Amino acid sequence: MNKQTEPFLLDASTARESTPQVGVSRPHESAHLHVAGTATYTDDIPELAGTLHAALGMSTRAHARIRAISLDKVRAAPGVVDVLTAADIPAVNDCGPILHDDPILAKDVVHFIGQPIFVVVASSHDDARRAARRAEIEYEDLPPILSPEAAHAAGSYVLPPMHLRRGEPQTHIDAAAHRDAGSIRLGGQEQFYLEGQIAYAAPRENDGMHVWCSTQHPTEMQHAVAHMLGWHAHQVLVECRRMGGGFGGKESQSAMFACCAALAAWKLLCPVKLRPDRDDDMMITGKRHDFNFDFEVGHDDDGRIEGVRVEMVSRAGFSADLSGPVMTRAICHFDNAYWLPNVQIDGYCGRTNTQSNTAFRGFGGPQGAFAVEYILDNVARNVGKDSLAVRRANFYGKTERNVTPYGQTVEDNVIHELIDELVASSEYQARRDATRAFNATSPILKKGIAITPVKFGISFNVAHFNQAGALVHVYNDGSVLVNHGGTEMGQGLNTKVAMIVAHELGIRMERVRVTATDTSKVANTSATAASTGADLNGKAAQDAARQIRERLTAFVARKAGVEADTVCFGDDLVVAGELRMDFGDLARESYVARVQLWSDGFYVTPKLYWDQSKLQGRPFYYYAYGAACSEVIVDTLTGEWKLLRADALHDAGKSLNPAIDIGQVEGAFIQGMGWLTTEELWWNKDGKLMTHAPSTYKIPTVNDCPEDFHVRLFQNRNVEDSIHRSKAVGEPPLLLPFSVFFAIRDAIAAVGDYRINPPLRAPATSEAILDAVEAVQAMRAAQPVPAAEATEAAAQAV
Ligand code: MTE
Ligand code: HPA
Ligand code: MOS
Repeated sequence: MNKQTEPFLLDASTARESTPQVGVSRPHESAHLHVAGTATYTDDIPELAGTLHAALGMSTRAHARIRAISLDKVRAAPGVVDVLTAADIPAVNDCGPILHDDPILAKDVVHFIGQPIFVVVASSHDDARRAARRAEIEYEDLPPILSPEAAHAAGSYVLPPMHLRRGEPQTHIDAAAHRDAGSIRLGGQEQFYLEGQIAYAAPRENDGMHVWCSTQHPTEMQHAVAHMLGWHAHQVLVECRRMGGGFGGKESQSAMFACCAALAAWKLLCPVKLRPDRDDDMMITGKRHDFNFDFEVGHDDDGRIEGVRVEMVSRAGFSADLSGPVMTRAICHFDNAYWLPNVQIDGYCGRTNTQSNTAFRGFGGPQGAFAVEYILDNVARNVGKDSLAVRRANFYGKTERNVTPYGQTVEDNVIHELIDELVASSEYQARRDATRAFNATSPILKKGIAITPVKFGISFNVAHFNQAGALVHVYNDGSVLVNHGGTEMGQGLNTKVAMIVAHELGIRMERVRVTATDTSKVANTSATAASTGADLNGKAAQDAARQIRERLTAFVARKAGVEADTVCFGDDLVVAGELRMDFGDLARESYVARVQLWSDGFYVTPKLYWDQSKLQGRPFYYYAYGAACSEVIVDTLTGEWKLLRADALHDAGKSLNPAIDIGQVEGAFIQGMGWLTTEELWWNKDGKLMTHAPSTYKIPTVNDCPEDFHVRLFQNRNVEDSIHRSKAVGEPPLLLPFSVFFAIRDAIAAVGDYRINPPLRAPATSEAILDAVEAVQAMRAAQPVPAAEATEAAAQAV
């Protein structure tokens, strides 16, 4: 009996206990392969004889008409077999996930620097890449739009604006005791999956195509390829064993790569692999949307928000891609954990001549929530109170003040007790006092501390995506093979699904193997996204396993002459009356008795409805909560800083696998910290992304992780009937490192005796920190404060 968790009662009537297979820490199912370098990624699949290699020729202009294109030198380059353009596409030149505004290969007009125009196919990867540079393209420049501000000013959007209003925000802002207004600049983020985009396509007999693709969405890749070739979906098979990270970047944007590889394979009737190098990947693919926010807020003396208005402008890039649902999620997370009685949110997806931005962990949620946290951070300084006190004053109530601006009632709120626990375990109050004391005697180095909360909605905000299917096979030796619609990108989905199936059948997880995601096994799958992978596919696999167990139960009950409800499964055994049987023996005997030992399973998330035109409904099945406390030290002369300590407490419900969930929280924390601090995307005046490699784009490394890092799971249980009462954990913890950003801002605020709101933009790079320090110093000099009053204000802020 595993004593780590509470015993699991297999069957209440017999009260027989067995070792639970869920709720226990287990290593990732492929961990031993990852560390040994033997896990098969798409590029590791042994190449078929005759495989050719493709490279993309890309636009060098942000917005231009293609006057003439000469590919003769490309064709003549060593090793080149063929060069394909939009004219070679037999059916539809589009791979847009929602709108049909995403050409696979640009034709007539190019929309950003890096946009693919042609595909070179050569006998080697290097030959293809070298040849791609030899194209001669004559452009006629058109005026580009290079920033979300410019797009907004020009009224250039990829979608109609979205508006959500509750109550009378302007009236309450005008009537409030205090008002504040300003702008917030929040940068984007490159997904930086360690394995880049890749697709490998091989023609199959009778007009078929097999595509191996690093993708979070095999079904959409299947449709994109079929659509391009003018084929039916059943002619295309897409397979993905695992990705070396996706982070949203492979939800829709793997399509262009899958289509180009399949196009070449179709035309040349041989296998073709397309694997862009890191720079090309970064130049071509979309990223997290950067946002500009303009806000106005009215609040009382305690910092309680009475009315707030925010205008959100995102950089959609040249096409819609997923910018619409990303904006919807941003709007639905502007409340974060706070009750906003009177609120207006206006969302604009700016069309710019840059990469088409897409999903990235949190999918707009982090952007929306960041805005309200920034506003509350200002409000706290405006009223001279601890920002945690102001945050608490605004939290959703448990039974009142608990309806979101989009009309969903928050029924599972645990933020109050979660924050209390974190405040105690992080010793927030004492450490906050210590930062103030330190700063009083330290003119150059300043310390800062902050606690920020998270509330994140779980479900796709498009209701029909919330479904999943699975197939479970029990072989007649008692070993089990599972296939489901989700994809493995390192997050541990296959591990969780294997545990769930093992648990359902009462066998050890080692008996269960999960196979590659394959569109020919489970049809019409959703993207593995919105953190729903385990919720959806776990339930579908459980449904399949349960059906098999029921058939086995009926067989055993007959054999033992007992009632079915006395049969129990556990610890690799089946017990029915006097009969005890190994699961393998049972499988063999059931097979001989002609019992069906495999099953499909299906799951649909209940309770969801959503009216996109009104932005009202219940888009989320439940919420995941969390909070983090971060303490930093900032050098106000250089802008350098260090994260001294971070404490994170996160709600994964009744965790399916605490070790994996803690890994997700740690990874998300560091990834979100990178977004808000060092990762800066910078386009030059021509619209060329200059930060397109790790040499110029700084992601966090192990050295950036705090030495003092405490990550714990909050003991909770989903109030909704989720898989074993767990909660999705993939995306929500990305919001935890808001605390790092606001700790840096707190340190800078010390320069102005906590009386001035530092105009700190995100990412808070060293340059941004120095700019904010200088701005605070200038504002302080412009409004000198009598020494006595300054001390009093500083004391009040403590
Ligand atoms: N963790 C790893 N290691 N690699 C990834 O690519 N993607 C994140 C998150 N955690 C990701 C990850 C994103 S964006 C999502 S939506 C979820 O995992 C998807 O998986 P899940 O729904 O199974 O949690
Ligand atoms: N997350 C990820 N992908 C999506 C979503 C979402 O909420 N909605 C539509 N596609
Ligand atoms: Mo995650 S951004 O929903 O792939």
